[in-house]
Amino acid sequence: MDMEKLVSLCKRRGFLFQSSEIYGGLNGFWDYGPLGVELKRNVKEAWWRDMVTAHDDLNVPPGAPQAYQMVGLDCSIIMHPQVWKCSGHYDMFHDFMVDCKESKKRYRHDQIVGRWVEAKGKRAFVTVVPETDNPAAEIEPRALKFFNLRAKQAEELVWQSPVESLTAVSDHEQVLGPDAKALGTLTQPREFNLMFKTIVGAMGTEDDAAFLRPETAQGIFVNFKNVVDSSRVRVPFGIAQMGKSFRNEITPRNFTFRSREFEQMEIEFFCHPKESAEWYRYWRDRRYQWYLGLGLASERLRLREHEAKELAHYSVGTADLEYAFPFLPKGEFGELEGVAHRGDFDLRSHQDGKLIKQGDQFVVETTTDGKPKHKGSGKKLEYRDELTGERYLPHVIEPSAGADRATLAFLCEAYWEDAAHLDEKGRPRTVLRLHPRLAPLKAAVLPLVNKEGMPEIAEKLYLALKKEFNVFYDDGGAIGRRYYRQDEAGTPFCFTIDGQTLQDQTVTIRERDTTKQERLPLDAVAEELRKRLA
Ligand code: GAP
Repeated sequence: MDMEKLVSLCKRRGFLFQSSEIYGGLNGFWDYGPLGVELKRNVKEAWWRDMVTAHDDLNVPPGAPQAYQMVGLDCSIIMHPQVWKCSGHYDMFHDFMVDCKESKKRYRHDQIVGRWVEAKGKRAFVTVVPETDNPAAEIEPRALKFFNLRAKQAEELVWQSPVESLTAVSDHEQVLGPDAKALGTLTQPREFNLMFKTIVGAMGTEDDAAFLRPETAQGIFVNFKNVVDSSRVRVPFGIAQMGKSFRNEITPRNFTFRSREFEQMEIEFFCHPKESAEWYRYWRDRRYQWYLGLGLASERLRLREHEAKELAHYSVGTADLEYAFPFLPKGEFGELEGVAHRGDFDLRSHQDGKLIKQGDQFVVETTTDGKPKHKGSGKKLEYRDELTGERYLPHVIEPSAGADRATLAFLCEAYWEDAAHLDEKGRPRTVLRLHPRLAPLKAAVLPLVNKEGMPEIAEKLYLALKKEFNVFYDDGGAIGRRYYRQDEAGTPFCFTIDGQTLQDQTVTIRERDTTKQERLPLDAVAEELRKRLA
């Protein structure tokens, strides 16, 4: 699939626009247009419904160790600064960046790769930010240009290393930056905290500094006690939250994949430490199935378990749900969601203070005078089991998804050029084969012609359906063109009122993917649509 075609469709049909486009845009920020907002809402509503409101508290779901409860939460975006100090984001949520003094561009240190090469008595580490799965092929023309050689003189380049990350190179004087002409223009890597800082209140001093949340999860942890005390939930239970998060990404890219403002859909699932391994496996598999059920193809969706050496000592497992986005090099996958076993790390940090690893233990980090570096709330966050009397800090399983990444994956998966049906210019029709639950519009109502009483019947049907479904009325242009317009918007069904409707009160229903048409009674349309969308 050609990503440029999808990006162009998204703009043309009102799925996604660059933020502040009329002023030249703002890198890393996106606006959802009329169709995009419906699609993303449907993704979020499907998640909320499947995880929270439609969850059956009474019976054991398939694959789960036991029945459990789910509740929701909607926390503020700006929280007490201590939240981020204890969570570790204040000290540790950073990337390393390098700046190029020549091109004035900024890069993430770990995204630059290069090769050592010698020619004409000079040696250089020639770099690129790879755009393909063959960075060596991208590096060679840059090296030729740097040494002032022609393509046919390529054998004069003496390669001295395989492709390696810039993070392995300490001698920056010999580095040719990805967009530079001279050596040594890249700065040393500098730490850069990804949290957006803001000021609360009118005084505007550093003491009033606060942060836009970089994840929704912490709002759940700091409200754990409130939820337990107010809603009579009993462990095991989950708290779900979706909403905006903000990260000042150094290099936002790949459409909405890496944005600076995005939405997350997170669950913190609290369970007894002894049962946490089973719950981890349950959530990992459940979340994988959720994406499959909404149409992602299994060959492009994978569940990647982190290797043991990648895991924190308390962690039984972490898995990423990854999708083969078309903008990635062949064979590479991008993260859609992480499912992590977090032990009691978060509740303990908010109770006792910021934790650090000492040997294979987590202990409260202290300053030289022995005081906690970042003091916890001091509130007991333990859970007391009313039946057994046992007190403990529950362990947490965290399925953490991105609403924008999921929306992008569904769009990529849905894009299809149907060579069996050509438009009036002889081009394959473009179809968004979105799952009906996700489709922005559920159906279109189309009078075949604008006369002979057809518009009146069509309008009546449109108004009746509108009470329940997001449907669209279109009476403009040739019927074939109208169908193709709906195919491109991902509308799964079209109902057409034609000459026969006037005689026998039937209409046609046309399916988006097959273009198959059937007749059905006008008064059966709502029920049929309900059935097909279920
Ligand atoms: N509480 C855990 C947490 O936030 P994460 O892996 O940093 O974990 C979870 O983020 C999900 O949020 C990712 O899998 C991704 O879908 C989404 N996400 C993270 N950073 C993003 C960004 N810059 N742009 C869009 N989505 C992002």
